[in-house]
Amino acid sequence: MTEPKQPPEPEQTDPERADPQPAEPKQPPEPKKRRWGWLVAVGVALAVLVPLGYLWATSLVPGEYNPAEMGYADYGGGPAAPGHDHDMAGMAGMSGTSVADLTGPKTGIPNVNVTLTARKQTFQLASGETIDGYTVNGTSPGPTIRARVGDLIQVTFVNESVKDGATLHWHGIDVPNAEDGVAGVTQDAVPVGGKHVYRFKAEQAGTYWYHSHQVSSDEVKGGLFGPIVIAPAVPGEVVAAIHTYDGKRTINGRTGAWQADVPAGTAARVRVINTDNAILRVGLLGTSYKVVAVDGRDVHGPTATTAAYALPAGGRVDLEAVVPAGGMRLIAGIPTLSLAIGPAGTNPPTANLSAETVDLLTYGTPAPIGFDPGQANRDFQYRIGRRPGFLDGVPGLWWTINGHKFPDVPMFMVAEGDVVRMTISNTSGQAHPMHLHGHHAVVLSRNGARATGSPWWTDTLEVGNKETYEIAFVADNPGLWMDHCHNLPHASQGLMTHLMYEGITTPYRVGGDSGNKPE
Ligand code: C2O
Ligand code: CU
Repeated sequence: MTEPKQPPEPEQTDPERADPQPAEPKQPPEPKKRRWGWLVAVGVALAVLVPLGYLWATSLVPGEYNPAEMGYADYGGGPAAPGHDHDMAGMAGMSGTSVADLTGPKTGIPNVNVTLTARKQTFQLASGETIDGYTVNGTSPGPTIRARVGDLIQVTFVNESVKDGATLHWHGIDVPNAEDGVAGVTQDAVPVGGKHVYRFKAEQAGTYWYHSHQVSSDEVKGGLFGPIVIAPAVPGEVVAAIHTYDGKRTINGRTGAWQADVPAGTAARVRVINTDNAILRVGLLGTSYKVVAVDGRDVHGPTATTAAYALPAGGRVDLEAVVPAGGMRLIAGIPTLSLAIGPAGTNPPTANLSAETVDLLTYGTPAPIGFDPGQANRDFQYRIGRRPGFLDGVPGLWWTINGHKFPDVPMFMVAEGDVVRMTISNTSGQAHPMHLHGHHAVVLSRNGARATGSPWWTDTLEVGNKETYEIAFVADNPGLWMDHCHNLPHASQGLMTHLMYEGITTPYRVGGDSGNKPE
């Protein structure tokens, strides 16, 4: 762009003009100056508008696109497999494995067989408030699905009246790719009147949740989710799904305080699920407790603590304590939102949680992780930033990944069997609960400090502003997997990319014309 040669001149006040003088200048220079002024103004306008227009135009996301071809391939220093060049990977006719073929077991009688029906409706919370949102089988949270390790789970998902379409994603369960429930990536959104059958084996005991992965920033917020626990129900177990409906924060759909009857002396396991978009401090009052599992993976050598636990959006934590005679109380953020756990009628005192926070970097004791991150053959950077510009033609302050705005973001390419290291850093000014689908990663370090406690396995990792985490995982679940922020509005604002196995193709498309909008 060339700079305009003549900046517009400020109007000059001529003190002499105030003086009524007979001798006016014969030829006032105004007309000529005005013409130049116009040209200059047009030049300035173009100098601003042309680059803006360029930025606007290049920010447009195609009406429909192939998620396997999004952005640019990042091989993390590993090999680009011959014949599986990124640009070709999604093209029809290429050899490769389709996401659609990476299903769970097609045969076999399911041990757990449920139908979940999604509706858009006005409904009542368990505590009575009326909400206009989404339900699963008429309630929100939806029913808790229970399975044991080894079970074959079959869920028939029916969309009765969710007009944007819907799916079910099994958050934290590393299912085969075709069962992952991401609209436009692993299936088409289920339209009103449609259904979709999910089948997968329950392989790892733990606390998980399911939620729609179509227009998820709206549908999850509105209530289209529920818990799923892989473990037999035992006495003293409490599932506590925390969710904010219309500004009202709830535990299992109840605002305020309520009580679960558990006899004193029982070893209680409280499975807490944060289904909101922001981190939440939780903990038990009235006793010390142990953090026995995080994100569906057991903690090794947990020790008793009275500190609070910071539960990332999308994350889960299992707290274990022996119920004292006077009961104990689960607090979700504020003392007024709580669940008393104890013998019928107990009313343990409520209070603020401890100001201290459990730090998983040092909590528990080390144990083998089953692979050597030192042997990693892929090493990725996931640098989260933010800058002004356009996204799909809309001006704003947008998230960036490695300096790139959605959809021009890195596609992390791996091959099956790879040992992967990833450094997630954040200078965006806000915290991000980062969620990788289909895999659990182990935390190696935070801000350069090595993890020294129990192996810290996670699927949803809070990365605070100015923090850097190094994580590692084994690429053992082929497919095309989302890797995004679980503050779901952030994902819909572009903090979203994929982990892709070489040779994988997808027949699904994302974007307006396809009807699929996973975020
Ligand atoms: Cu809880 Cu991409 O999802
Ligand atoms: Cu975020």
